[in-house]
Amino acid sequence: MIPIKKIGLFTSGSDAPGMNAAIRAVIRTAVFNNVEIAGIRRGFEGMINGDIETLTTKSASNIISRGGTILKTGRSEQFKTAAGRKQAYNQLKKNNIDALIALGGNGTIKGVKEFGEEYPDIAIIAVPCTIDNDLRGADFTIGYDTAINTVIEAVDKIRETAESHDRLFIVEVMGADSGMIALRTGIAVGAEAIMVPETKSDINALFERLERGRKDKTSKIVMVAEGDEPGGAFEIGKAIQEKFPHYDTRVSILGHIQRGGKPTCMDRVLASLLGVAAVEALIKGHSGEMVGLIHNDITYTPFSQSVKHHHEVNAEFIRIVEMLSL
Ligand code: F6P
Repeated sequence: MIPIKKIGLFTSGSDAPGMNAAIRAVIRTAVFNNVEIAGIRRGFEGMINGDIETLTTKSASNIISRGGTILKTGRSEQFKTAAGRKQAYNQLKKNNIDALIALGGNGTIKGVKEFGEEYPDIAIIAVPCTIDNDLRGADFTIGYDTAINTVIEAVDKIRETAESHDRLFIVEVMGADSGMIALRTGIAVGAEAIMVPETKSDINALFERLERGRKDKTSKIVMVAEGDEPGGAFEIGKAIQEKFPHYDTRVSILGHIQRGGKPTCMDRVLASLLGVAAVEALIKGHSGEMVGLIHNDITYTPFSQSVKHHHEVNAEFIRIVEMLSL
């Protein structure tokens, strides 16, 4: 095993609150272990363009509490091409980088998987960062806890105005193909129904659900993940309004506020544990794996298994929502 000398650290894909806490942990653990650390700005694009800077322990000062990512992030079409990846490899070599730590979600892991297969002399570890919580090999991804807390704060406010006006609200949350945000927050806000892309959603089942509900209820909240099949919140709102003209229906799309904000304590701690684990994994000779916490244990999941995974939708959650919203 050749010891690693210089790690290139980058964030890629959608940002997630807690990325900065992970960046801090990676920088400080590398410095502690006398491994050089360089920041690659704007994800794979920065790798291709050689947008690379040396990081020091000072670079990590006072970032643990900040949302977003100090390294900036983005998606790269160029990196999907062999020529783009070759250029990225040449830039890494030019900068004497022999290992990478990638902070991101599904697209990021797909990208480093392909890159690692083509250029096995660069060791790579990924750290799961996405508000969607949809990666195998991590009970929770960094950013998810902050996002769900942002959602419940917003929906509690919506509930107050809904209650005052006797209204039904369709609240759309993020998760183009993951219902993890809708599912957990649906319980936490006492939603009357939840619609997620992992299970077949039937608009008629929603109508029945609303009909079965208590008639004297003055407000109703339907939580919808953005990727649910009957369409977005506006289509669902329109269908409800047509079926039940007596409901005063409104739609609220929470959007990108779910991706911002100060990371919660849970996300800061998770990011710190996984940032340390990522550097230590590289030092121990790991590569091609994502670090994660499963039942509070650090685990290493090969990239081929960690990409895009629908956590099984806990049917119990849906049952509980229906029972508790009586
Ligand atoms: O993957 C995180 C996520 O926030 C998804 O939930 C959402 O569908 C997507 O990113 C939105 O991406 P963009 O910011 O590019 O619109």
